[in-house]
Amino acid sequence: MRMRNKYRKPTTFRCNAGSRCSTSAVVWSLVGCFFMFQLYTLVRQKDRLGGEIQFRVSNHPQFHELEQVEEENIQIPPPRKRSPRAAKRKPRRPTTLIDEFLDENSQIRHVFFPQKLAIDPMKDTANDSYYFYPGRIWLDTDGNPIQAHGGGILFDEKSRTYYWYGEYKDGPTYHAHKRGVARVDIIGVGCYSSNDLWKWKNEGLVLAAEKANETHDLHKSNVLERPKVIYNDHTGKYVMWMHIDDVNYTKASVGVAISDYPTGPFDYLYSKRPHEFDSRDMTIFKDDDGVAYLIYSSDDNSELHIGPLTEDYLDVTNTVRRILVGQHREAPALFKHEGTYYMITSGCTGWAPNEALGHAAESVMGPWEFMGNPCAGGNKVSRLTTFFAQSTSVLPVPGFTGSFIFMADRWNPADLRDSRYVWLPLIVGGPADRPLDYNFGFPLWSRVSIYWHRKWKLPQGWSGWKRI
Ligand code: GAL
Repeated sequence: MRMRNKYRKPTTFRCNAGSRCSTSAVVWSLVGCFFMFQLYTLVRQKDRLGGEIQFRVSNHPQFHELEQVEEENIQIPPPRKRSPRAAKRKPRRPTTLIDEFLDENSQIRHVFFPQKLAIDPMKDTANDSYYFYPGRIWLDTDGNPIQAHGGGILFDEKSRTYYWYGEYKDGPTYHAHKRGVARVDIIGVGCYSSNDLWKWKNEGLVLAAEKANETHDLHKSNVLERPKVIYNDHTGKYVMWMHIDDVNYTKASVGVAISDYPTGPFDYLYSKRPHEFDSRDMTIFKDDDGVAYLIYSSDDNSELHIGPLTEDYLDVTNTVRRILVGQHREAPALFKHEGTYYMITSGCTGWAPNEALGHAAESVMGPWEFMGNPCAGGNKVSRLTTFFAQSTSVLPVPGFTGSFIFMADRWNPADLRDSRYVWLPLIVGGPADRPLDYNFGFPLWSRVSIYWHRKWKLPQGWSGWKRI
């Protein structure tokens, strides 16, 4: 026998005295409302799109060329011939482009790590001048490969010069033990200066490894990664933050160093676990109001933490927020455009490349929303591997609102000193093509795009060239 459920709600609702609405009427009116809302959002999007395109064209048509989607077709070589016995012993699994990238004996190694061609500002005249070639060896003005991996660029207002700081890795790659990751002893932080972002002069090691004292954070047997420098307008000091670790990455700390000059030498102050949390990949970000923030991967790289630094930039404050919780992101690179904060991150696969993701926020402390993969052009695999590279920093191009340089590292774990730089134009504009978290399926913010180019240069007329 079927019992009547006395707790079940009636399927009709009283709308107002005397009238009754059926469930379907309510459902249909809800559907109607939702439809109207989506229509409204679409119209708004379209308006924004129109406005955005106009804005882009009228503001910097020169950059438009760099927004062209450039496809790249990389052919996987046919499998090498093997003896029938070898083939029987171990059947070959299909080779992917990522396998080829990770295989140091790959027949197409030169595609990812070209050996013969280099960006050489002292030789490349006329036709090749000022061209960036992502993945090529990049020589400094002395003719040596630039050593500034996992780095970032400071524009020094006083000298109107760019300084590029990064890991100086010009030593042998080895494994400290069987299960250890490929590494190079700490040599120090390299610094290069430039007026045009293309010709870089080696300014030497601005923070050097400690050779004798084994207990020192900077002892060569430890790890120093992702150094970044910002200038403190109050104290007049240049402050460097970096990832400090031991050989097994269990110290998981940040280190701080300070200098009176952008070219150092930097005095190493101390290391700590920020907010008492483990901290591995990290960056710092200086906002327009002068407040600077530390952003680091924490809780075993499962989430990021963000918090303001003290006024002198020498420590963190007690304020911290957990962001991208459970998303396992690292290599954060932050930038700001028209009041919105953006961040590019990578997944956590060591030296192997993986998919970049964009995130956006109205407040630097969050909440941060997911924006999808910003990579455009190349091919599917290269888009899924950030063009075989990993984010490290995003640099605004002066004079071109909404235009940035995305700086990434194409790591070569077989020979880390030979890791390459992948710099590409990053443009903020147009509607995002992936739904964000809280917008009922329609994008709310501008799309962030990183455009693949085999070669590209900054348009004439950006202020770096004029040396204003
Ligand atoms: C990556 C990280 C690099 C380096 C590497 C070591 O995940 O982004 O900076 O730490 O691991 O395997």
